[in-house]
Amino acid sequence: MTAYLITNVSVLGAAPTDLLIRDGVVAETGVGLTASDAVVVDGTGLVALPGLVDLHTHLREPGREDAETVATGSRAAALGGFTAVCAMANTSPVADTAGVVEQVWRLGREAGLVDVQPIGAVTVGLAGERLAELGAMADSAARVRIFSDDGHCVADPRLMRRALEYVKAFDGIVAQHAEEPRLTEGAQMHEGEISTRLGLTGWPAVAEEAIIARDVLLAEHVGSRLHICHVSTAGSVGVLRQAKARGVQVTAEVTPHHLLLTDEKAVTYDPVYKVNPPLRTAADVAALRTALAEGVVDIVATDHAPHSVEDKECEWAYARPGMLGLETALSITLDVLGPRWDLIAERMSRTPARIAGLTEHGHDPAPGAPANLTLVDPAARRVVEPTELASRSRNTPYARMTLPGRIVATFLRGEATVLDGKAVK
Ligand code: DOR
Ligand code: ZN
Repeated sequence: MTAYLITNVSVLGAAPTDLLIRDGVVAETGVGLTASDAVVVDGTGLVALPGLVDLHTHLREPGREDAETVATGSRAAALGGFTAVCAMANTSPVADTAGVVEQVWRLGREAGLVDVQPIGAVTVGLAGERLAELGAMADSAARVRIFSDDGHCVADPRLMRRALEYVKAFDGIVAQHAEEPRLTEGAQMHEGEISTRLGLTGWPAVAEEAIIARDVLLAEHVGSRLHICHVSTAGSVGVLRQAKARGVQVTAEVTPHHLLLTDEKAVTYDPVYKVNPPLRTAADVAALRTALAEGVVDIVATDHAPHSVEDKECEWAYARPGMLGLETALSITLDVLGPRWDLIAERMSRTPARIAGLTEHGHDPAPGAPANLTLVDPAARRVVEPTELASRSRNTPYARMTLPGRIVATFLRGEATVLDGKAVK
């Protein structure tokens, strides 16, 4: 196994030091380290962070390998500074059995670029009618702990309650895509001034807020863990703030795009901006930023949603919702939060690792810690070029934007997955 000596690097913004990585762990830290057998990585000007952890990634395999595969998505993740991603269950077939989650888990191991942790479906076929085999997925080699019908809401309150009860047995968590389906029928974008002007059917904020309010009450009643996917409105922040003040075991994520972009983008009719939940107003963006800084929203999760050209480059009404995120998440978060490295580590690594139960991840680079880390050049600026992304799809909303920060290297259990900004395999 190759040893690496990272010299003169700032760990989370602290004074520069050296990091020796050997046998999968951070073996030593300190100024002036030497190791004759180690590959030297010049860390001058770079910041070392614990490897990023994404709680919400769509890898599209099995079923839509034309949009992404576990291997291409893993490469995109490593290039984005991630060492672990949780793969959503809305594949084809749906990840609602031990067989499918084990397949995804195995493909992740074979790709070997990030730890791919499958998420299991809550209901069979994401149909919202019968609970899937949650226990069998939990007991499988993939050791599933997060269950989600993401893409669909678990709208039936009785099913949601039963899922919350069921996962308690193995300290699992239900991750809800909060969208009251009766309130969003035919919705094309955020319901507000702009949807009215454009004549597009709106997706009202209350359709998200009503489900979050219901589910925090259910989670409180059952005494179970609830996670809310892609929170997008100021009202949702208010509901979460109250629930947390009462001690409900609820966590929540926000996507980079909901932290940066608004429903103004819809006036272009460019389907790259179509996403579910939709881009909201500037006031929502401001509330989400505050909530993230305060911890009312616990983490940033990408909702990386690759789509083929056929599914995305068509009329707005027919385009699939979703946008790429893995390769730009750190840059957007850096842009939004500024160089608050400890906060970034908390929101993008330590807390998502803790929620997902990924015990090997989310550790600051310190002696004895598993060597899952990433090196960022905060001074670099880069122009996003869709054709240069590692993802198999091109649907980034940041095309040709200049973003701060560049991932220079990523290490998974002491092995480099990215060096000099390039994937190692
Ligand atoms: O925009 C979205 N895309 N939202 C979802 O909930 C699902 C996702 C997808 O799978 O494309
Ligand atoms: Zn979703």
